[in-house]
Amino acid sequence: MSNNLNQGIIEEAAAFIRSKGGVQPEVGLILGSGLGVLADLLEDTVSIPYSDIPHFPVSTVEGHEGELLLGKIQDRPVVLMKGRFHMYEGYGPELTAFPVRVMKQLGVKSLLVTNAAGGINTSFEPGDLMLITDHLNMTGRNPLIGPNDPALGVRFPDMSEAYSRRLRKLALETAESQGITLQQGVYAGLLGPTYETPAEIVMLRTLGADAVGMSTVSEVIVARHSGLEVLGISCISNMAAGILDQPLSHDEVMETAEKVREKFLGLVMAVIPSM
Ligand code: 6GU
Repeated sequence: MSNNLNQGIIEEAAAFIRSKGGVQPEVGLILGSGLGVLADLLEDTVSIPYSDIPHFPVSTVEGHEGELLLGKIQDRPVVLMKGRFHMYEGYGPELTAFPVRVMKQLGVKSLLVTNAAGGINTSFEPGDLMLITDHLNMTGRNPLIGPNDPALGVRFPDMSEAYSRRLRKLALETAESQGITLQQGVYAGLLGPTYETPAEIVMLRTLGADAVGMSTVSEVIVARHSGLEVLGISCISNMAAGILDQPLSHDEVMETAEKVREKFLGLVMAVIPSM
């Protein structure tokens, strides 16, 4: 098995992106389902379809858009992924996290990852935002499997502060100053594409999970391997299976994202300058 990463491939993608002009990004942003609206607030935007970028996969899911944007948010130069790659689309974990490698190569120092997630903690409600304090990698996969290139990071990366304490404090203080309730908890990452079963939710709760989704963990593993500081925010789009007596649907996920839009934008816009 190979993690398929070498610096040549990463540099080719980064060089192509640099050749399009635009800012030199300091912060990377990955926007989850329905949270792509942040892209509309970028200034001095340069937009590059994923399909144009060498070695980039192409996103296949409805409701996700496949473009990389360079621009400024509150004067901070950022690179933003509108739509991400998921393992349930058939990509290996190293490919879902490849854009994080490219962001690092472009000069990014910190990464904001956002996602839509099901609420496991029964004190949460759909529409809540949850600061990710830690994660459970329940995918059975890891993007670092294969030979390790020491130029990219160490063989056995420390994950004891996967989600930066400094950035968590910043997000909590920002939320408080804006009067936004920010829940906190552990994100369990599953492969999907099926939503979880009620029995799986009982299991995940027992294991310490507060929310569940199908993304983020491979990106964060690669970000930590690369030495990036990570901030993670989940939008609780529904209550996980078995909590309420109703089926789960992608439409519901998208509808909730729409409702939290303003709260989400307010928080993220205020956090980015200090990231
Ligand atoms: Cl895996 N489960 C639930 N209930 N909601 C979600 C999700 C999963 N991913 C995004 N929203």
